[in-house]
Amino acid sequence: MSTPTTTAEPAAVPSATGTTPLLALTAISKRFGGVQALTDVSLNVAPGTVHGLIGPNGAGKTTLFDVISGITSASDGTVRFGGADVTSVSSTGRARLGMRRTFQRAQVFSWLSVEDNVLTALEWRGGGGGVLADLIAAPTRRALERGRRDRVAEVLAWCGLVEHRSTAAGSLPLGAQRLVELARAVVDRPRLLLLDEPTSGLDAAESTRFAELITSLRGEGCAVVLVEHDAGFVMRMCDRIAVLDLGSVLAEGTPAEIQADQAVRDAYLG
Ligand SMILES: Nc1ncnc2c1ncn2[C@@H]1O[C@H](COP(=O)(O)OP(=O)(O)OP(=O)(O)O)[C@@H](O)[C@H]1O
Ligand SMILES: [Mg+2]
Repeated sequence: MSTPTTTAEPAAVPSATGTTPLLALTAISKRFGGVQALTDVSLNVAPGTVHGLIGPNGAGKTTLFDVISGITSASDGTVRFGGADVTSVSSTGRARLGMRRTFQRAQVFSWLSVEDNVLTALEWRGGGGGVLADLIAAPTRRALERGRRDRVAEVLAWCGLVEHRSTAAGSLPLGAQRLVELARAVVDRPRLLLLDEPTSGLDAAESTRFAELITSLRGEGCAVVLVEHDAGFVMRMCDRIAVLDLGSVLAEGTPAEIQADQAVRDAYLG
């Protein structure tokens, strides 16, 4: 496991809008053997904004999330997060820096209760100091544990999972499992949240609920990058949208600019 590298890095270059990007991708390419999944992708995400990532099946959206979150390494290019070059930082290191994600197929610990799913997502910072250190630290540790339980309860209430808190996550319907995955992702208060098709398989009411939660996260200053096939949802939710096609950025702009872009209409929106 590599250590997060946040030192000795020059400050991020401000974007054209004057805001320093929270996430800055520069010339990212990714090859899987003979498959060129991403080519020369550059993208900036400003703090506290919702950024859509759309494009046809196989365009490279999930691969880009894998590169951003450090699950896979880019063949070329750099990933900067919070002003630091994190290109060679592990996915765990990037999570510690405040980056979280959810998956196209919701991932939860199916045999654990909802509450324990969320609790295990909170990083444990105690321990490791030997028996004497443990004894001295016990009161602090109990206070920390109470704090952790309080934070989990707060997040479960926020996403409407209180009634399911003792239920095994795997026995819940998909909509609730997606909420459990979201709760796990936000419990440590990330600065950047990557959501891969969060409303896939949800009904209209569940999608609306998800939209409210994303809006509330933005209100708390969390930036969100959203992969989504529901064009209406993306247009309503996003401050900016990037369109990927065959692994390259076809267009990037506000929802109105994307809707008016002829190349995007031809390739994706129809
Ligand atoms: N591990 C892998 N090995 C080989 N090829 C891969 C791998 N992962 C992705 N690909 C290929 O990379 C390309 C982009 O796939 P990716 O899953 O990123 O697309 P996507 O935009 O997320 O598609 P979808 O909308 O269907 O989820 C596809 O051609 C895919 O087959
Ligand atoms: Mg995908």
